[in-house]
Amino acid sequence: MRKKIVAGNWKMNKTLSEAQQLASEVVNMVKDEVNSDVQVVLCPPFISLYAVGKLIESQSNISLGAQNCYHKASGAFTGEVSVDMLKSVGASYVIIGHSERRQYFNETNAQLAEKVNLLLAAQLQPIFCCGESLEQREKGIHFDFVRQQLTESLFHLDTSQIQKIVIAYEPIWAIGTGKTATSAQAQEMHAMLRKHLAGKYGEQMADNISILYGGSANPGNARELFACPDVDGGLIGGASLKSRDFTDIIKSF
Ligand code: G3P
Repeated sequence: MRKKIVAGNWKMNKTLSEAQQLASEVVNMVKDEVNSDVQVVLCPPFISLYAVGKLIESQSNISLGAQNCYHKASGAFTGEVSVDMLKSVGASYVIIGHSERRQYFNETNAQLAEKVNLLLAAQLQPIFCCGESLEQREKGIHFDFVRQQLTESLFHLDTSQIQKIVIAYEPIWAIGTGKTATSAQAQEMHAMLRKHLAGKYGEQMADNISILYGGSANPGNARELFACPDVDGGLIGGASLKSRDFTDIIKSF
């Protein structure tokens, strides 16, 4: 049975004390109100990883995630953070390939394949982001584009490796815009992704891979989105910055 996951991508928000406050609020709400079969992942900025990790370590269904890692193991890469560094502060998930990093930092599918390899070698779980632009959707090439993202970054993996990947479908046109994909649009893309995975790895393996939706998910639409057969949770941006909204989303299964 694939995992239900709700991950909060805090992006470049929250100072250290604000991050500690938010994490404490989420821990208190999750431990009292949320069924434990949903894996919660908190992804603060790098500077708060260790402190947030210490605050959540007592809560088995809350894990620590990072928002990125470098695609080299170590060395003269000023300002970058390595997979081993993230592991050393307690991260167990790492978001990679977020559209904002692809856009602002020119991350390529090939670089993401290197990140995947480094993360799996360190026993960390990649949350691999994929998704199309509005222009690509309007041209009708969104399925081919997203399939190519998986093929070029993930399809070098063997069956034991691919099952450790979490996929997050984040239509770029829905991120931060309030224009959430409809549940039909989300289900259609998620089903296509699972079919693409099945074509390479077989249906049984594809059925065990969690595919999350991201893009203006909120307490008002999460229940309908999570009710889709191929939506296994969410990668939440803005709504993860408020503990009550984030907890309400977690409870939407
Ligand atoms: O990684 C999650 C993020 O891209 C979604 O952002 O603010 O639309 O929930 P938001």
